[in-house]
Amino acid sequence: MENFEFYTPTEYVFGRGTESRVGELTKKMGSRLVLIVYGGGSVIRSGLLDRVKTSLDAAGVRYLTLGGINPNPTDDRVREGIAVCREAGVDGLLAVGGGSVIDTAKAIAGGVPYDGDFWDFWAGKAVMKTALPVGVVLTIAAAGSEGSGNSVITRLDGMRKISLRTTVLRPRFAVLNPELTFTLPPYQTACGIVDMMAHIMERYFSNSDNCEVTDRLCEGTLKAIIAESPKVMAEPDDYQARANIMWAGTIAHNGICGTGRVEDWTSHAMEHEISALYDVAHGAGLAVVFPAWMTYMAKHHPHKIIQFANRVYDVATAEEGIARHKQFIASIGMPLTLEQLGIENPDLETMNRKLHENKGEIIGAYHRLDSLATLEIYRLML
Ligand code: NZQ
Ligand code: ZN
Repeated sequence: MENFEFYTPTEYVFGRGTESRVGELTKKMGSRLVLIVYGGGSVIRSGLLDRVKTSLDAAGVRYLTLGGINPNPTDDRVREGIAVCREAGVDGLLAVGGGSVIDTAKAIAGGVPYDGDFWDFWAGKAVMKTALPVGVVLTIAAAGSEGSGNSVITRLDGMRKISLRTTVLRPRFAVLNPELTFTLPPYQTACGIVDMMAHIMERYFSNSDNCEVTDRLCEGTLKAIIAESPKVMAEPDDYQARANIMWAGTIAHNGICGTGRVEDWTSHAMEHEISALYDVAHGAGLAVVFPAWMTYMAKHHPHKIIQFANRVYDVATAEEGIARHKQFIASIGMPLTLEQLGIENPDLETMNRKLHENKGEIIGAYHRLDSLATLEIYRLML
């Protein structure tokens, strides 16, 4: 087990009707005028945005709004939000939505108090020291941004999709009401399931040994996700199944599954190039990437893939484990190839070149990969 620091300051408020507590929680985080950030309209159609505003009104917290944030959010909206916050003297961000909305709110929060361009942090030119506080009302169990210190933004100039990880951006609170996820289309539900599994697997596939507790946390959570998924796919308003999937999504990415171990994150880096270039849903991209990465590893570095097969899918070999994982992915309607993902003629060379421009000559921790190796993995996605 490696030395580690684990700091998760987020207050999780979980259960039915919890969005009614947003006003009180926002006030507690010290904000009097917040920017509510939301997406393409699902929170308007469901009435959630109105309920959030009512709760803020009751607590005497004023607000402005920034809506229309798209999936795979872009830097232009972040700059717009920063300008609004500075002009109005906003002192907190309230994200009402999924990963794209939360990540935009986080980027705005980090950009407001900074004199330079917010992208400096994503480009690695500056270290974020401070940010406005961020609260979250989560509407999709997927990216885990409600409990993570990450924010993933795409810079339109050059279509560079970069993830920043910093403790400063961990949300102060996250309201998790499983009922809010009842309205998710099946495709988005499935994308979320694949993404949360990937967050665990990026941490699980590690050479750090004697991590019995975190290995079991990872395996147990993966098994729970595999068991609950058919229920939410069949019955979108099965509260208990939605609740388990929602909490799994947070646990998968708030850091607890990575304690004591070196994490990998190759599959995410490879996926970010796919969603940057082709604007596909992140989870659907991961559905294609992870089996390809595991197939390569079964040949070159199998020990943890075998343990995954044994303990998560109860089968004997790496190959059987990968086959079972693919079967599961297909069973929830997710793609297994780039073609099934809707990309007819994928430009593998460009994705591979950008991958190494963004991440360096050699990537990965479980197994170090040069550009020939990552190109081979991209080819396994055809
Ligand atoms: O925009 P609206 O109308 O709200 O619709 C959204 C959107 O179209 C819809 N949706 C969300 N909640 C809904 C709903 N529709 C009906 N009912 C609801 N309750 O779902 C669609 C996808 O939303 P999005 O926020 O993009 O999903 P997700 O949470 O999967 O976030 C994906 C983004 O997060 C990044 C991804 O790369 C991608 O950009 N990630 C962020 C991470 C982090 N910050 O820690 C880690 C992840 O690995 C990931 O990279
Ligand atoms: Zn992810």
